Amino acid sequence: MAHIKSLISEDEIASAVAQLGRKITDDYADCELTILGILTGSIVLVTDLMRQIEVSHQLGLVQASSYRGKTTEAGELRINLDFLPEIRGRDVLLVDDIFDTGKTITKIAAQLELFEPKRIRSAVLLWKKSRSEVEAIPDYHCFEIPDEFVVGYGLDYNGEYRNLPYIGVMDK
Ligand code: IMP
Ligand code: MG
Repeated sequence: MAHIKSLISEDEIASAVAQLGRKITDDYADCELTILGILTGSIVLVTDLMRQIEVSHQLGLVQASSYRGKTTEAGELRINLDFLPEIRGRDVLLVDDIFDTGKTITKIAAQLELFEPKRIRSAVLLWKKSRSEVEAIPDYHCFEIPDEFVVGYGLDYNGEYRNLPYIGVMDK
């Protein structure tokens, strides 16, 4: 197993996610909220975050995959909306593990517009601000991180390490 150095601890993640949950609770009072998790990386965040949100909401999932294999460069982005619930007229909050180039969230949001939601916003655990290739920025984020390849808390390298309870940087 490769050596992994901790960047953000389990405790730091837990308090940041709780804080994000309180913010969303305040901002979405009296809204018809749908949380849309982006598979696969968001699943750990989504399950923790939704339990910190005290306004009633629906949960849906969309899938984005850009094959990487044993590299850290993303390939072609594929989006699967087969599991998308009815979002017409609803407040959609897209949740993902990380906002890197921003292409995944931007492309999914563009496709979701066709279903006529009331509004689409995004929430991510991590934001690699220096890497952005789009104009949009995440509406909510927990941590800004440097341009390093990270794993854990849902983030993978070649399909593995999603189970780590902390965010770590892989030694190359
Ligand atoms: P974006 O489209 O460039 O914003 O990339 C978003 C997707 O790329 C995320 O949902 C992750 O699956 C993946 N990704 C980007 N950076 C990392 C990283 O440092 N570790 C693991 N996955 C990453
Ligand atoms: Mg992902």
